[in-house]
This record gives sequence, structure tokens and C-alpha cells, in this order.
Amino acid sequence: MEVKLRVFRYNPETDKKARFETYTLEAEPNDQVLDLLNRVKWEQDGTLSYRRSCAHGVCGSDAMRINGVNRLACKVLVKTVGRKITVEPLLGVPVIKDLIVDMEPFFDHYRSVLPFLINDEPEPACERLQSPEERALFDDTTKCILCGACTTSCPSFWASMEYVGPAAIVQAHRFIFDSRDRGAEARLAILDDRMGVWRCHDVFNCTDACPREIEVTKAVGEVKMAIAASKKH
Ligand code: SF4
Ligand code: FES
Repeated sequence: MEVKLRVFRYNPETDKKARFETYTLEAEPNDQVLDLLNRVKWEQDGTLSYRRSCAHGVCGSDAMRINGVNRLACKVLVKTVGRKITVEPLLGVPVIKDLIVDMEPFFDHYRSVLPFLINDEPEPACERLQSPEERALFDDTTKCILCGACTTSCPSFWASMEYVGPAAIVQAHRFIFDSRDRGAEARLAILDDRMGVWRCHDVFNCTDACPREIEVTKAVGEVKMAIAASKKH
């Protein structure tokens, strides 16, 4: 079938302002939107720029707006979006070129929540054991691939890039609720801020956007409750 792919184009070195360019191409219903972008780049216009790597929903590099919603281009099939497809960069972060955005503000927030296991206690003779019930507390948030679809779909982040954003909170959640970790207090103190969890107003865009189907808003709520509980002691 014939598909019209409308793509946001902007090269700050040569363009005064952004524009849309429409490419016509033949596609199969099971083609990914990423396949279409690749075909445009390889067969029609080699200047088109976008990030991609695994093509299987694992690396998180090809998050973009597809027909107005944040998705991974490699996880959206043509048959689910129809013959007219508009592709734009993620919102709320600066565009570097075409569909490539500056993810540094996003990764600065990620790094700010100490996203690694903290435990200075003497090493046990064998592994640090954990029961299935303890593991279940943070199982959902281990699935995050740092694609940024949640944070860049959040109106609070659009209003201010200072907001730590749902992805960083998901990463903090993954360690705060890990029974082997001892850094929860430090992470909760970082997130107990006007630009931390309290900037979240439960809009749920993040949950809708997550390609890993993580219950992002629920995770943010659990971190809010952990902060409240820590103040009662
Ligand atoms: Fe992407 Fe989901 Fe992780 Fe957000 S929580 S960065 S949408 S995988
Ligand atoms: Fe890796 Fe889509 S290219 S997630």
C-alpha cells in the first residue's frame, strides 16, 4: 500500500525555521515506522537524521512523536497508524537536527537520583539474598529502557526542564524499594523537592506513553508515599 510519511525537518546550520517534508513510499502493513524512516534515508534523502539501534524495542533510542503521541518507531506498525503518518521529535527538549533531540537534560536528571545500588556493608559470604516478595516490589521499574517517552510527554516537564521527570523517578524507585540497597534515604531527600516528585500532578501521560507498559504514575505515587512515611519516623 502507498503511505505518506510527513516528517519534521530542521537543520539549525542551514534552516531559519523547521518545516515538514512528505515522502511517498510503498509499505507492508507489518512494516515498522522505523522501516519507513530507514527507506526514506537509504533511498530518497540521506540527510534525514534520527536515532535508532536495535529495532526491537530494547535500546530505547528511537522514541519520537508518531501521529501526536510518544512511541518507539520500531514498535509501531503501519497497520496500526494508517496511510498518513506524521513523525516529529520529542517535545520539551531542544532539537539538534530533524528527529534527534538533546537528551542531556534528561540524563542529567537520571544521574541526579543515584541510579545504582548503594550498600557499604561488608559483603556476605554468598550473594545478597532477596525473597520473591521483596523482588516483586520493584519488578515493574526494572523494565525501564530510558527511552524518555514518559518524561517528554509530561506537561510538568514541558513547563520546566528543571522537573526531574517520571523516568528519573522510575529509576529511583527501582533502587528505593530494593531490599539490598541502603541509599533510599538519600534518594528520597533528593526527590522531596518542588522540582522532584511533588511536581507530578497525576496526569498519567507518562503511563500511556511507556513502551514497556510500566505503571509509571503508580511508581511516582509510591515514591511520594515513601517520602511521606519517612517523615512520620
Ligand atoms: Fe521509557 Fe517507560 Fe522508562 Fe519512561 S519509564 S523512560 S517511557 S521505558
Ligand atoms: Fe532500539 Fe527502537 S531502535 S528501541
